[in-house]
Amino acid sequence: MNATLAQLKACFDQALTAAFGHELAGTDPLLVPASNPKFGDYQSNLAMALTKQLGQPPRQIAEAIVQALRVEDFCEPPTIAGPGFINLRLKTAYLEQQLQQMQPSERLGVPLSKRQRVIVDFSSPNIAKEMHVGHLRSTIIGDSIARVLEFLGHDVLRLNHLGDWGTQFGMLITHLKTAYPEALTTANALVLGDLTSFYKQAKQRFDEDETFREQARLEVVALQAGQEDTLKAWNLLCEQSFIAFAEIYRLLDIQITNRGESFYNPLLAGVVEDLAKLGLLVEDQGAQCVFLEGFTNKEGNPLPLIIKKTDGGYNYATTDLAALRYRIEQDQVERIIYVTDIGQGNHFTQVWQVARRAGWIPENIELVHVPFGLVQGEDGKKFKTRSGDVVRLRELLDEAVNRARADLEARLQAEDRQESEEFIAHASQVVGISAVKYADLSQNRTSNYIFNYDKMLALQGNTAPYLLYAYVRVQGIIRKGGIDLQQLDGKVSLQDEAELTLAKHLLQFDETLSALEADLMPNRLCQYLFELSQKFNQFYDRCSILQAAEPERNSRLALADLTARTIKQGLNLLGIQVLERM
Ligand code: ARG
Repeated sequence: MNATLAQLKACFDQALTAAFGHELAGTDPLLVPASNPKFGDYQSNLAMALTKQLGQPPRQIAEAIVQALRVEDFCEPPTIAGPGFINLRLKTAYLEQQLQQMQPSERLGVPLSKRQRVIVDFSSPNIAKEMHVGHLRSTIIGDSIARVLEFLGHDVLRLNHLGDWGTQFGMLITHLKTAYPEALTTANALVLGDLTSFYKQAKQRFDEDETFREQARLEVVALQAGQEDTLKAWNLLCEQSFIAFAEIYRLLDIQITNRGESFYNPLLAGVVEDLAKLGLLVEDQGAQCVFLEGFTNKEGNPLPLIIKKTDGGYNYATTDLAALRYRIEQDQVERIIYVTDIGQGNHFTQVWQVARRAGWIPENIELVHVPFGLVQGEDGKKFKTRSGDVVRLRELLDEAVNRARADLEARLQAEDRQESEEFIAHASQVVGISAVKYADLSQNRTSNYIFNYDKMLALQGNTAPYLLYAYVRVQGIIRKGGIDLQQLDGKVSLQDEAELTLAKHLLQFDETLSALEADLMPNRLCQYLFELSQKFNQFYDRCSILQAAEPERNSRLALADLTARTIKQGLNLLGIQVLERM
């Protein structure tokens, strides 16, 4: 298929061994899309990189590589620039042929990767607590990563590592049993109402009342021991939380399997036992710890990772150790991706270090932390409501939809357009939710991002509405021309500079996805789609489509259709739905 970059890399590999012998086989050709189209489409910096190793001037190396480079099927004769950059320009005939092949392909020519079993551990809010904007980021980013990996053919297990276990439940269960006894007798979680205020009340009693604290402590013991009424109360709390989470997942169109911390509870004792057997466990002030390598406290002494607390309880890290073993042994995955805020980076490094030292991580297993930055308000501070409260996700999403609706209604009025309520409601929903998702995904995830409704909903710029609009524009052309896409002959002929630019970009979809597969940066895909929309708009401004004479008309319709299909597929991988009209 159109894996141009991969083919070019293979050609470089051949040229290298032909020119300099087999020792150079497998050398990375350092081939990247050219930064300036003036120089061509791809550029290799290889000659400079090999100077030392080969003891020759880079220009001479470049000449030898070009001599041996057999790329005439794809490229114009390669040129050498500056100290030894090798520039390649794709042949128009090659581009035309690639686009023709792409048209009937449902996958737009994107090849399947070698199938891997992967876990994406994402979203993962905590029971009885509000899901906050950090969880929103994890949900949006994790879902997109899962979608891309699934599209590339991987077997993805989407896991919600819910915080549904631990000492805080003693307090919650005590509050439930004493303030809402009817919840237990009727087994109706709904009477608990909004769990955020439930949590606050429980916390207040816990802080103020010594007897309550003692009871809460006993409930933790009862929970660990699996006492029936305590488990029942715990279940009700989980159920009530799930209702609130499910609502957010429904709005965001998220598929995820709940497998909270409680799932691994029976395995925690085994973790401690095995670490002890391996001689990794050290008792420190009554707690069972593993002393970490490369982590020190203020005094410069090795930092302990507490596996079992003095009171016999286990930690967040203990559960992650148990989860890690389970995922490798039982789920048999090869790659585990954790999507959390940057602040948890040390936690994962520490857990993985202990697991590695224990010999629990076979060499072929890849563990990846996908960190992301904070969501900030306009003022650059932590994102809050005007009154200073934590923003509720439901309200945040509703607000985006309401604003999208106001924008749409204003536009309809200005254009004197009549649309049904159904149309308006659906379009606002799609635009509002897409805007929130896209604003998050289009940033380099490791940086903090400023939440701004106006920016994310703008029709111009790197926003969801801009991309949705490019798609709608193509659909408009197809409707206006009464075009039956099945009837197009599929022939592509590229003449105008804008057609060539668009064509080349269309053919980079698969490269973009394979880069994302490796570095798990969804902003790559956003940037790709944004540029695709821009290039399409430039093409649309310069080249008439419906008014063009044949064969241009046919060819341009094919380009427009491929653009629309790529945008639709690309947005789908970001968890964003398209609209036919807006
Ligand atoms: N529940 C955690 C939190 O809210 C996130 C869990 C991430 N996953 C994991 N395996 N530790 O911060």
